Amino acid sequence: MIGRILKHMVQKVMMSSSPDGHQSEMNLASVEDTDFQGLPPDSRTPGERAEEVLSSMSLEEKLGFVTGYKSLAIRALPRQGLPSVWMSDASSGPRSFGAATAFPSSIAMAASWNHEIATLAADHIAESARAKGISILLGPGVNIARIPTCGRNFEYFGEDPFLAGTLAAAYVKACTRRGVICTVKHLAVNNSEYDRHKVSSDLSERTLREIYLPAFEMAVKEGKTRGIMSSYNPVNGVWASENRKLLTQILRDEWGFDGFVVSDWNSLYSTVGPMKAGLDIEMPAAKWLTPEKVKDGEDDLDRMAGNILRTLFAAGIYDRPVKDSQAREFHTDHNDAALKAAREGIVLLKNEGGTLPLPQGDGITIALCGPLAVESSTLGGGSCHIARTTGTVSLFEGLKAAASGNADADTVAVKIVYVQSLNNPGSRKILREADAVVIACGFNYQTESELYDRPWRLPPSQRRLIHRVSRLNSRCAVILTAGGGVETESWIDEVPALLHGMYLGQTVGRATAEILFGIVNPSGKLPFTMARHWKDIPSVKNYPKRYWTTNARRIALGQGNPSLRKIRHWQYEEGLMVGYRHFDTAGVEPAFPFGFGLSYTSFAIEVLRLSAKTIVPEDSLDVIVKVENTGKRAGSEVVQVYVADTESRLPRPKKELKGFAKVELEPGEAVETTIRLNPRAFCYWDSEAGGTDSPGAWVAEPGEFRILVGRNSGLIESENKVRLSR
Ligand code: BGC
Repeated sequence: MIGRILKHMVQKVMMSSSPDGHQSEMNLASVEDTDFQGLPPDSRTPGERAEEVLSSMSLEEKLGFVTGYKSLAIRALPRQGLPSVWMSDASSGPRSFGAATAFPSSIAMAASWNHEIATLAADHIAESARAKGISILLGPGVNIARIPTCGRNFEYFGEDPFLAGTLAAAYVKACTRRGVICTVKHLAVNNSEYDRHKVSSDLSERTLREIYLPAFEMAVKEGKTRGIMSSYNPVNGVWASENRKLLTQILRDEWGFDGFVVSDWNSLYSTVGPMKAGLDIEMPAAKWLTPEKVKDGEDDLDRMAGNILRTLFAAGIYDRPVKDSQAREFHTDHNDAALKAAREGIVLLKNEGGTLPLPQGDGITIALCGPLAVESSTLGGGSCHIARTTGTVSLFEGLKAAASGNADADTVAVKIVYVQSLNNPGSRKILREADAVVIACGFNYQTESELYDRPWRLPPSQRRLIHRVSRLNSRCAVILTAGGGVETESWIDEVPALLHGMYLGQTVGRATAEILFGIVNPSGKLPFTMARHWKDIPSVKNYPKRYWTTNARRIALGQGNPSLRKIRHWQYEEGLMVGYRHFDTAGVEPAFPFGFGLSYTSFAIEVLRLSAKTIVPEDSLDVIVKVENTGKRAGSEVVQVYVADTESRLPRPKKELKGFAKVELEPGEAVETTIRLNPRAFCYWDSEAGGTDSPGAWVAEPGEFRILVGRNSGLIESENKVRLSR
């Protein structure tokens, strides 16, 4: 039954693989206006230059400028000599205008717990974008993984705001250095794909501030993003695209954002609302901001066009050729960077009896089976998916290459046999007699995608496969591909080894093979909690039971339907208790905790000292930690710093991640590392504080805080205390 429904959904998607119906136009062969070579040098400020252009624009030009051109551009202003400015989805590589190197998904980047990985990937992605003539990247996405089955979790950085914000800020900075604007998305509280135009995310101000906004705030304040994309959904009953509180009061007035706000594709539901709220560009085309509908409001149009012009001047976009002829669209460096990121995105969740690394040597046979052994599941589906990569390596190819020495790294002499089906005695014999079996399971761009949420359990055929194979051969390792948590409780005891591979991009097969054979030591950590049971996750309380069996695509495309105004309200009843915050505080044991990931070596962590015993609310605090590799292989460990408020006026989660560092160590090596906690690390949002004009404020309450240092949210190895005074 479930299989049939899945097939039906897949067919639907295949009929038109267009998130919100703009795909066909996105297949434009290349950008326009490539003759443009840049304006002559001009010493005026971006604001002055924008003013001058604005004063020369007719009403018609302004309207054209604030609405999308060919689904993927800001329109040219021929009279003023300004070219069109091109955009592309790109969190894992620029997917429009031809093939692209498919980098790992954002969730895999988050699993690296390494901001250098986000920087490396973004730098290469932005270079390739410039070579194609793209100046605006539609990403990265920083929505919080509130529900494990959200179809777009793979496009985001996991369940923790601090982790997500750190990686997003690094990503944005790297793009900005290449002269590429990011539109950090989707502001805000867009945590499920189910009926995304009509479900209002209803939550308290404190939950909004502490869980759903900080990653955006970090992308604005630290990353200095020049672009933001609003989301489809209403927030507390007001659509994000017409939510003045989000788009103006918080974003611009509080955080000091100075760029432009682009709408998500077809996410406007009225004309005046978005113009007054602070939206600057309607994408993919004029639907609500047409000459017929915009009756007045030239002041708003001036503000909107002015924001776009100033931002484009500030980023130097009009001062250079549309395409950067020095930039490389494809290069082995890009593939190498994608591989480096993919290696760090793999999380080893279970490894009993030394199942991994796989045995190697002459005469050894490794059998490989499962739906994702030959088919490569590089990225989830929708606007982040890259259909034409520059060379995808499947797991089967990756294992064979590693086994035959075609990988650049070490050679392993092993025979790799792919077993397609268990339905004949010959195949079963191979599996039974193999020295180890690798089972590649999980989802792909059709079963896990934008537009709908995916099942919590693996498809029944895959669960059956795991049961049958593990009975034939006890030495088996499962590799999961998914953008978030998946049910493992019904089969985990049957397999001695499990890897979570997220979506690893085009080097998926090679990176996974290197980890399986121990050529690379795994160092990824879960950026989300994996629950044992669906009912253990409080965020799914108001979620429809049969959420993914409904005709999700039709519903998701329901914009323009008059009944759209009938929004339904989903209460975020769990409040702050998202992911590990809930599991920790309520004492519920997860299958695998947030931050968890094994290595082929072992580590010891100890807090040596704090930079101060007492601090005031404006202070940062340095946590000085000693990390030692106590095993026999080189490897990397992520030191995670959680802060716990011992006593607080408002209820708080038991502990929260406020700092981390990834450290690479040779066997026996020990280092000291310093992790800085910024003043916000100690605060909660108090909705009652602040003046009448701006209710609510961040409050650091005097008292004692515990600084907990460990290797995952369930394993604190060392702690210290600091006192906060006024
Ligand atoms: C997605 C956005 C994306 C846009 C353009 C929409 O369907 O929600 O994230 O940037 O399409 O492809």
